[in-house]
Amino acid sequence: MNGNEDIRDGRRRSSSGNAFSGGRMSPEERLAMKGKKRILFICLGNICRSPAAEGVMKSIVAEAGAHGYEIDSAGIGGYHIGQLPDPRMRVHARRRGLELDHYCRQVKATDFDDFDLVIGMDDRNIRDLHVVAPSPEAEEKIVAMRQFFEKSNYYDHVPDPYYGEGDGFELVLNLLEEGCRNLFNAIEGR
Ligand code: 4NP
Repeated sequence: MNGNEDIRDGRRRSSSGNAFSGGRMSPEERLAMKGKKRILFICLGNICRSPAAEGVMKSIVAEAGAHGYEIDSAGIGGYHIGQLPDPRMRVHARRRGLELDHYCRQVKATDFDDFDLVIGMDDRNIRDLHVVAPSPEAEEKIVAMRQFFEKSNYYDHVPDPYYGEGDGFELVLNLLEEGCRNLFNAIEGR
């Protein structure tokens, strides 16, 4: 179920031939993030990566005492609708002080009205989101999580941990903490 063929340790780059060039956001792209506080995180199942991203981002916002944010997550697939995040993801998140209490839901076209940024975890998510988006304006809201990684970061997506071991969940949380911190700074114009 992984578009990047990269389940165990995430060390293989995705194969979709996207525009990734080893860099991250340009100054213009970074500026475009400013004030975009309604954020929807997307992954395939909405039980591992995107609810973790939601939890990480909410904790960064709360810690900073920032206001006006709306943060949610959803899945491309509908396999786990109504469920809490995968117990393994919740255990690893809890070790970092995060309680993941999101109930799985599937992304829908109207999400593009309700959110400013729709952030996919990997290239397959991004491709699928372009199918769901109801208009060209909606498509402009689609962003890849990798854009918020440090330039020095080897990864170009958040690897799906679902079929792997515990390390995969730690890797997801590490990548999301880095990415969400940079996302928050870009939104705040810092
Ligand atoms: P996620 O991981 O996209 O990070 O939530 C997955 C969870 C479940 C499945 C695939 C990926 N699944 O096929 O059920």
